[in-house]
Amino acid sequence: MCGIVGAVAQRDVAGILIEGLRRLEYRGYDSAGVAVVDSDNALQRVRRLGKVQELADAVATNPLSGGTGIAHTRWATHGEPSETNAHPHVSGEHIAIVHNGIIENHESLRTVLTERGYTFVSQTDTEVIAHLVDWELRSADSLLQAVQKTVSQLEGAYGTVVMDSRDPNRIVVARSGSPLVIGYGVDEHFVASDQLALLPVTRRFAFLEEGDVAEVTRFEVNIFDKQGEPVEREIKESEVSHDAGDKGQYRHYMLKEIYEQPVALQRTMEGRLANGKVLASAFGDNAEALLQKVKHVQIIACGTSYHAGLVARYWLEQWAGVSCNVEIASEFRYRKSHVYENSLLVTLSQSGETADTLAALRLAKEMGYMASLTICNVPGSSLVRESDLAYMMKAGAEIGVASTKAFTVQLAGLLMLVAAIGRGKTIDDALEAKLVAALQSLPAKIEQTLAMADDIEALAEDFADKHHALFLGRGEQSPIAMEGALKLKEISYIHAEAYAAGELKHGPLALIDADMPVIVVAPNNELLEKLKSNVEEVRARGGLMYVFADVNAHFASDDTMTVLNVPHCDEFIAPILYTLPLQLLSYYVALIKGTDVDQPRNLAKSVTVE
Ligand code: AGP
Ligand code: GLU
Repeated sequence: MCGIVGAVAQRDVAGILIEGLRRLEYRGYDSAGVAVVDSDNALQRVRRLGKVQELADAVATNPLSGGTGIAHTRWATHGEPSETNAHPHVSGEHIAIVHNGIIENHESLRTVLTERGYTFVSQTDTEVIAHLVDWELRSADSLLQAVQKTVSQLEGAYGTVVMDSRDPNRIVVARSGSPLVIGYGVDEHFVASDQLALLPVTRRFAFLEEGDVAEVTRFEVNIFDKQGEPVEREIKESEVSHDAGDKGQYRHYMLKEIYEQPVALQRTMEGRLANGKVLASAFGDNAEALLQKVKHVQIIACGTSYHAGLVARYWLEQWAGVSCNVEIASEFRYRKSHVYENSLLVTLSQSGETADTLAALRLAKEMGYMASLTICNVPGSSLVRESDLAYMMKAGAEIGVASTKAFTVQLAGLLMLVAAIGRGKTIDDALEAKLVAALQSLPAKIEQTLAMADDIEALAEDFADKHHALFLGRGEQSPIAMEGALKLKEISYIHAEAYAAGELKHGPLALIDADMPVIVVAPNNELLEKLKSNVEEVRARGGLMYVFADVNAHFASDDTMTVLNVPHCDEFIAPILYTLPLQLLSYYVALIKGTDVDQPRNLAKSVTVE
């Protein structure tokens, strides 16, 4: 779930480790810690509750010196956030470990280890790893072997890095369910849970696979697969942009990423649209023929990515003439579902490491789907490596926990998928050219829509003292209303719900009063007149309306309805465009409320645990 950084070098690594944690801060965490082996081959460890800066300040006061070290930002699953529960965890005076994930059999292991004489000082599941390694070292030939024996007894998910001060020029890492990447330097090697942490020291990475265990020294990296056999993992040059780790002139990463959307959309379309056509190679070398056979699409995702899938369902059924089901990954993985003939499994994920989505993919691969495609933003991530096809979003690293540019780029990729599936069947050349033109107009349209920011910032004042809000949309704008509600919830902590506007009279209308602002996304399409009726239903009950409407919809503001006109656009891209004002609204409300916009409470950027 959270952040791991490790290093084996000649130089002091404490600064590298802490800078690495800073670059992983966006993932969300509650505490942090670092440990190094010093020149006397003794473990030096500092841990702090709270932000990485607290840890950095502590280390500045009591400097750590050593060339081998490990560090961690924790997102607590077992044991409250505290200095005692922060990683690294130790066993005795020599073993230190950090861990991402959940050890599901930690209680039974704790019992056995306690009987063997170990004393536990934390409430975490993680601590069992440290004592188990110490125990296995009594009979193992090496730290590597002790770790291999240890992880063979673990159930659940782990990315873990182990250090032994008696063997100071080595760390051993193991991955199962939580990602780990090896960074290759010059006479020094690194490990992290996300390549972003190590970009200041290397751009060469090898991604560990499920079950891999690796022994890392300054001069060697020896990787072994889950059967204990030596294996090579390709070393690749990172595609992640260097500047992803800073906010530039923006106050928050979220605002930076909202304004990056025109460029991110240009990047995702580069080389993928030509002469009024979508190039099916965008989805993988052998995608064209396969996508033409698709009769049903099963989309699986979480959170914002799930909302993108809900929009795509309208497009796939309306334009590509295929049936589509969209499901939340955490539900899909525990439901007995039916696999339709010629069914394509599509996972949507910014991080490519969301545990529920990854588990759903692994389950689905055993169920007889024709193929699996992931639309993902992180090269080398688990979903990319484990799917048959991959559409790389190329949106650039998304740091803000609240997803913005990843969502609109996912939608652009899904529109391209619609064309690749429907081509030659329900989508003729003229319609495909129209779709492509709409996509190509998107960056400019988004720039125009971002010009609404000042008006939306002024509007935000109306929401700051509210405790609830209702978002309404119809058709493919209904998931956009859901996305607007999620954005408001997750960064301003105001309760918000979204409804298909036609559903209002079946109950939610009872909620309407002056304290329940109603936000409506109102595109200029065949549902507009019906949406206008829904708006009247609300106004008749004294509801305060905020309507984002196509300038051609001729909605007029009055004393109970504030209308903000969105630039007119082609219906293909309306859901993408109408997302922007809702992103801005949630951002400005959160600013007024003074919440932690980039790292909202209780949340993490990549949810790599169940
Ligand atoms: C969205 O703002 C949230 N951060 C969250 O819902 C997120 O979309 C979800 O956790 C899925 O993440 P993924 O796209 O990386 O799989
Ligand atoms: N389950 C471990 C703990 O609660 C690790 C959590 C994480 O991945 O940060 O400490």
